[in-house]
Amino acid sequence: RKKVVVFISGGGSNMIALAKAAAAADFPADIIAVVADKVDAGGLDKAAGLGIPTFSFARRDFASKEAHEAAIVDELDRLQPDIICLAGYMRLLSAAFIQRYEGRILNIHPSLLPLFPGLHTHQRAIDAGMRIAGCTVHFVTEGMDDGPIVAQAAVPVMSGDTADSLAARVLTVEHATYPMALRLVAEGKVRMEAGRAVSHAIREATGMLI
Ligand code: GAR
Repeated sequence: RKKVVVFISGGGSNMIALAKAAAAADFPADIIAVVADKVDAGGLDKAAGLGIPTFSFARRDFASKEAHEAAIVDELDRLQPDIICLAGYMRLLSAAFIQRYEGRILNIHPSLLPLFPGLHTHQRAIDAGMRIAGCTVHFVTEGMDDGPIVAQAAVPVMSGDTADSLAARVLTVEHATYPMALRLVAEGKVRMEAGRAVSHAIREATGMLI
C-alpha cells in the first residue's frame, strides 16, 4: 500500500473522505499523516479522532515562506510519503517542492478545470452563466490549479444557486472523486508522464456525472 500524506488548511472533509476510503481493506493506500498550515484547521481534530498523526505548521511561526516549507519538508523526509494529496490546502507550494515530489502530488479544485482556477470559483461559475459545475483532481505542477487531470465530476448549476449552495453540491462529489482518483494513481493506473496524465486503466471511467 502506498503511503499518503494529506495537506489541509480548513475543515478537512476531503481528507476525511480519503481516510474513510483508505480504511477499506482493498484500498491501495494508507493516510499516514495530515499536515496543516494552521494550528486551528478544523480537520486536525477530525484526523486525530481517526487516529491519524497530525502536524501543524503555522506560517507566522516562520520567518519566510522558504523556512515554513523547509520545516514541512523535514517532516515529510521522516514520513517518506509516496503520494501527497492537497485537500483544501490554500497555500501555493514552491517550484522546488513540486519538483521534489514530481508526479506524486495531487490536488482537488472545486471547478471543472481549466475553467475557473484560483479563488471564488463558484461565484465565477455562476456569474459566467454556467449550467454545470464540478470538481477536478489533477497532478500538481508549477502553475496554480494547473497540471494533468486525473478525474472530474460534474453537477448541475440550479437557478437561484448561491456560491455557498453550489459549493455544497460540488463538495458532495469531491468526496467521491478524490478517493477514486487516489486509487487510480496509487495503483499506477494513471501516471504523470512528460507533463500529461497517462491512463493505463482499461475502460475505467475517470469522469463522473451525477
Ligand atoms: C474543497 O471544496 C476543495 O476543493 C477546495 O477547498 C475546499 C476544502 O474543503 N480547494 C480549493 O479551493 C483549492 N484551490 P475541505 O477542507 O472540507 O476538504
